[in-house]
Amino acid sequence: MGRRLLGHIEARTTDLADAMFRNKVINYSCRERAALEREKLFRDQPILMGLSTRLPKPGDYLTEDVAGMPVLMTRTADGTVMAFANICRHRAAPVASGCGHARSFTCPYHGWTYDLTGKLLGTTDKVGFAGIDLAAHGLVRLPAAERHGMLFVRPKPAQPGESLTLDVDTGLGAFASDLAALKLETFPLFSVDRVAPRINWKFAIDTFLEGYHIAHLHRKTIAPYFVGNCGLFDGAGPHGRMCVPRTTIEQQRALAEGERSFLPHVITLYQLFPNSLLIWQVDHIEIWRAFPGRDDPAHSDIEMTIYRPAVTTRPDSYWEKNRQVAIRTVLEEDFPLGERMQIGFESGATQEVIYGRNEPSLVHFHSSIRNALGVPA
Ligand code: FES
Ligand SMILES: [Fe+2]
Repeated sequence: MGRRLLGHIEARTTDLADAMFRNKVINYSCRERAALEREKLFRDQPILMGLSTRLPKPGDYLTEDVAGMPVLMTRTADGTVMAFANICRHRAAPVASGCGHARSFTCPYHGWTYDLTGKLLGTTDKVGFAGIDLAAHGLVRLPAAERHGMLFVRPKPAQPGESLTLDVDTGLGAFASDLAALKLETFPLFSVDRVAPRINWKFAIDTFLEGYHIAHLHRKTIAPYFVGNCGLFDGAGPHGRMCVPRTTIEQQRALAEGERSFLPHVITLYQLFPNSLLIWQVDHIEIWRAFPGRDDPAHSDIEMTIYRPAVTTRPDSYWEKNRQVAIRTVLEEDFPLGERMQIGFESGATQEVIYGRNEPSLVHFHSSIRNALGVPA
């Protein structure tokens, strides 16, 4: 990849898609389309929940509404990760909230208790629920997996006979070994930021999938650090990998093959289909996850997390500075422009947007969405 990048920089070229791709603007605002995406993308696919270090020890748990499915994830006594619908079997209250450490979960409504494996331990009124089969009223399991230091859940209960352990590797294909090599399990969580911009969730992903705009929109923030409109793209199934060179990569050109080291001079972005971006930021990991808003295709819920290395001599202020750069760039430059674009999409004045051949990650992302939805356009 390093050699490919140096070649592109010298020739002033970039990886290209086979052809330009036209997408209908209503795909960013149409309710029927949003309902289909919710079903086919956010219920049927494994969703990245973050790195393993979000649940470091047995007894740790996290909760999250994943595009309308209340999810509870736990690390059980034997260290395995399990996921459940965070819905009490009495009358559907969430049995856990936020994240933390617990031995069991007590429903806040009438006090039914569940253990870390979802088993119903007891009801609080023995007479009112006499004869109830506790074993048949555990929390509903959701298929989950912990692979290469990442947590995944599929926010739809398993069908009878279906495995409760998600097969993530088959889907990740060629990227599984890359992600394993990053040793993601050695990066503890540093920060979590959540925003709800008035943009369709796909735009939140789009804005990361090309380096073409860096020299323009991010002129005053990150542009000086990057070689403009230059990058690599590779796909693995619906997932994508984009690699953008930092200007410092030029130092490597003069070195002999065996002495070159490219990792410190690139940003590599794994687009984990459908809605997550895991970004290798040279010395830390940044993850963005985008979810459709509950009732409106023009709203999204976005989470940005930063994970720093477990062993580091850097003070927290250094990672905080990185967080501020991400906020300034994405939340103060990309998303505000995106909110204006969303208005443009909804205006009805134009029918299409175009992803250029120099934006291969975007072409792949939207082709993958079409495939997963089974729609022609
Ligand atoms: S809803 Fe949970 S105990 Fe009643
Ligand atoms: Fe941007």
